[in-house]
Amino acid sequence: MPDYMETPRWRDMHVHVREGDAVYTLGAVSAAYCSDILVMPNPFPPHGIDTMERLEAYRKECRAACGPNCTPHMTMKLTPNTTPDLVRAAARAGVTGFKLYPDGATTNSHGGIPQEWLLNRPSIFNETLHAMQEEDLVLPLHGEMPKSFVWDREKHFVEVFWNLAWDFRKLRIVVEHITTAEAVDKVQHLATAGFAIRATITMHHLWMENGASDWHGDGLYPDRYCKPEAKRPEDWQALIRAVKNDAFFLGSDSAPHVPGTKYCYKGCAGCWTACTPGMLVTTFEKHGLLDHLVEFTSRRAGRFYRLDDRPGVVKFRKESWQVPKEIAGYTPFLAGETLPWRMVP
Ligand code: NCD
Ligand code: ZN
Repeated sequence: MPDYMETPRWRDMHVHVREGDAVYTLGAVSAAYCSDILVMPNPFPPHGIDTMERLEAYRKECRAACGPNCTPHMTMKLTPNTTPDLVRAAARAGVTGFKLYPDGATTNSHGGIPQEWLLNRPSIFNETLHAMQEEDLVLPLHGEMPKSFVWDREKHFVEVFWNLAWDFRKLRIVVEHITTAEAVDKVQHLATAGFAIRATITMHHLWMENGASDWHGDGLYPDRYCKPEAKRPEDWQALIRAVKNDAFFLGSDSAPHVPGTKYCYKGCAGCWTACTPGMLVTTFEKHGLLDHLVEFTSRRAGRFYRLDDRPGVVKFRKESWQVPKEIAGYTPFLAGETLPWRMVP
């Protein structure tokens, strides 16, 4: 077993860097080891990044936070008011895509796309999606139907992404943070058949090998609560198998919350993992997947999002260390746990 390794800089294609001063803290955390991050558009609730003015202001902050070695690729929030003109303006401004949040599916998703529109797309929604396809923008999806039973939300979204893939054959679609064997199966099937669809998998879902038992089976771990929730051990096994396949790449969905909104009567979903990339190395080593690490963290997303490779490496040493209980006011997903791998300068 190696006790030191280097990888090319990572690409984390799903990160929440929040707003205000947090952007600088969280942007710098990812920039320490990523050449590219895809920034989610759900800060500043309730509207999120849904106008060119908000996009420009937010992008300026993200760029300053990430510095010269990490590019923050920007997304905007798809809403019922997103017009083809806005799509074209966003494309001209270099936006990477519009993120589809079903209205109410997750933290700060309000004002997203109503569930009824997903099941039966009105023509104005189709026109917006056509414009995205024409402009070659990416459609990252939060793949849960908010009105279903909580563990069936991803299941009921499968027909939505399946139909989108068939109806918009050239639109690049990413099903974000998948958690079920069925989603793995369907995305892999479509990607193998040549559809422009991929899925991201998070570090925390790959970590929780006992599925839901790892976040509420033996006491409740609020810092392991996220949307979509980790489900059954069989689902975890499917995610572990998926990392060998070209259709799947890293999107950490790193999503910290301050204590006031996390530990309260109705706590927010979201896990903070970007601060501990060593947890993914640990998972890959434990399950005999190290040969697939670089493809998963650094290469596949680059091909799909058409990103230029940049020089630079990330270094990891096998050195037992305790994940801090708190960093900059946030609690890491593995707070207080001992990890065998750590990133080193
Ligand atoms: C994310 C957040 O907190 O912004 N939460 C989460 O549980 N994943 C939103 C999201 O991506 O679903
Ligand atoms: Zn997210």
